[in-house]
Amino acid sequence: MSFHGTSGTGKNFVSDFVAQALYQKGIESNYVHKYTADIIIFDELVMNQFSLAAGIKKAIKDCPYSLFIFDEIEKLKPGVFDAIVNLLDHHSSLKGYDFSKAIFIFLSNSAGTEIAVKLKSITDSGRFRDETTLVDFERIAELGAYNVVGGLQDSKLIESHVIDHFVPFLPLEQRHVEQCIKKEFNKICHRSTSDKIISDIMKAAVTFDETHVYSNNGCKRLSKKVEAYCYMNT
Ligand SMILES: Nc1ncnc2c1ncn2[C@@H]1O[C@H](COP(=O)(O)OP(=O)(O)OP(=O)(O)O)[C@@H](O)[C@H]1O
Ligand SMILES: [Mg+2]
Repeated sequence: MSFHGTSGTGKNFVSDFVAQALYQKGIESNYVHKYTADIIIFDELVMNQFSLAAGIKKAIKDCPYSLFIFDEIEKLKPGVFDAIVNLLDHHSSLKGYDFSKAIFIFLSNSAGTEIAVKLKSITDSGRFRDETTLVDFERIAELGAYNVVGGLQDSKLIESHVIDHFVPFLPLEQRHVEQCIKKEFNKICHRSTSDKIISDIMKAAVTFDETHVYSNNGCKRLSKKVEAYCYMNT
């Protein structure tokens, strides 16, 4: 699966849910392998391809039901995943390895802006956000990943159709961010919020894009702002 959306729209949040649903220790499980852009070294493409494939094979040998999460892949070099295409193909078989049970999740910002533009045009035309479906965005996510610089640009992973689902994460509106603030406030400050508090934190923590409808950073880094607010106001 490949998750696409602008910053703070919940890509990591949801991949953690997947880990929690599959393993007792969730994201802490030994069978969850999370690769962040800083672990996969930028310049050494061949070296990366080799070590990625070797790492995945070893993990699958230990447990065929492993979960691999690749975060911020828009920061990676195009081609970095080409060496693992055959490992993701359900039908491929390599003696001693069963890749068909493993789950691979790619997370990126690529296509995030295109998804936001499409959502805005849908809502401007009179359809509600809640009425949109996967079909409205799936192709945009796939094309965005393939055409924009990053780990999936011109990637054989996409050309070979081994990615089953391109999952769009819609940009968050003010009402969604308010819910995040409420949740964080209750958790961190141990009291309930008021409209004034929400609006103060909103002003300090959130900026909106050129449509003035979608948050630039989704619900990201809100907890730090809420923490600071509670500290200053108690
Ligand atoms: N759709 C959502 N519903 C509820 N909470 C959300 C949602 N999106 C984001 N959040 C909250 O915001 C936090 C930050 O989101 P997350 O780290 O998953 O964003 P991201 O999409 O991975 O962003 P980035 O592309 O910048 O890495 C989450 O831990 C969660 O608390
Ligand atoms: Mg993230």
